[in-house]
Order: sequence, then structure tokens, then C-alpha cells
Amino acid sequence: MKIILTGFMYSGKSSVAKQLENKINLKRIEMDNLVLQKSGRKTITDIFENDGEETFRKLEKLVAQNLKGQTNVVISTGGGVGVNEELLNTLKIEGTIIYLHVTFEKILQRMGKHTSRPLMKNRMHAEKLYNTRLPLYREYADIIVKTDNHTIEEVSDLIINELRDDL
Ligand code: S3P
Repeated sequence: MKIILTGFMYSGKSSVAKQLENKINLKRIEMDNLVLQKSGRKTITDIFENDGEETFRKLEKLVAQNLKGQTNVVISTGGGVGVNEELLNTLKIEGTIIYLHVTFEKILQRMGKHTSRPLMKNRMHAEKLYNTRLPLYREYADIIVKTDNHTIEEVSDLIINELRDDL
């Protein structure tokens, strides 16, 4: 079993991955953490500010390639991976892509006043990015889960229910 969680920032990928790790005993892989390890920086913002987004994307690609052979895992991707066909194809071998949908309104609610995400700092830019990505998240998904009105626990249970025949 290999689950790849995609979705925009604040869609709950990391939290849902933790639930799936505990409930169905999958190893949880946080792509952002692996990118951080490779970068030698302390935070994602440091990478964006000092090395630039392009470097961040290159590291994401390397991380995806290193994860190719993994099984029995739940992979929590960064928001940009979910619209990158090349990376998704690398990650997807024998895997299921689950897109966690969240509205932009809800993202702002979840985010509150402060954010550690470099791409959320400019609201107009973030909304544009969201609108551009939305159809692509859908296109690449095997399963779509609407998260706005559900708790993390409910979302993870919905996913387990969808996958029950394969578990
Ligand atoms: C990004 C999402 C972030 C992180 C980076 C870029 C994006 O991850 O990878 O800031 O391009 O959407 P989360 O989706 O976990 O916040």
C-alpha cells in the first residue's frame, strides 16, 4: 500500500498522514522534512529566501526520486508536488493519489494571522496560485476528499473507507 496525499497548503496533508500512520500502520514520509534535510537549511522559508524557489523545486525532485521504491507508506507531499506530473508519476508507482480539497476561504481561516509558508505571505499571489492549481490537483487524483467540513479524524476515516478493499 502506498498513499500519496496531495493538496494546497493547509489542506491537512501532514495531520491526515499522522492519522493514517497510526490507524493503518503505514510509515509516514514528510517530503518537506526530507527537502529540509537535503538543503542544510533550518526552515523552508530559509531555502526560499537564500537559495530561491527553483532550488527548492530541484530538491523536491531529488527527494521524489529517492522515494521511488517505497511501499507501505503514506507520503505527505508539499503543495507544489501535487501539480507536478513528473514528480507524481515518480511517486505514484503502485500508489494511490488522494487529493485533499479545501476552499481558499477555509485555508485563510486555518492559517490565521501568521504563516510560515513563503508562498502564503502575499494573499493575492496565493489565491492566484490556488486557482491555477485547483484543476491540476483534481486531474491527477485517484480519490478526492472534500475537507472543509470534516475533522482530520473524519477525513482519515473517509480515506480508510475508500481503500478498505485494498487494506
Ligand atoms: C509549497 C507548500 C509547502 C512547502 C513549500 C511550497 C507549495 O508545503 O512545500 O512552502 O508550493 O504549495 P505544505 O503544502 O505542506 O504547506
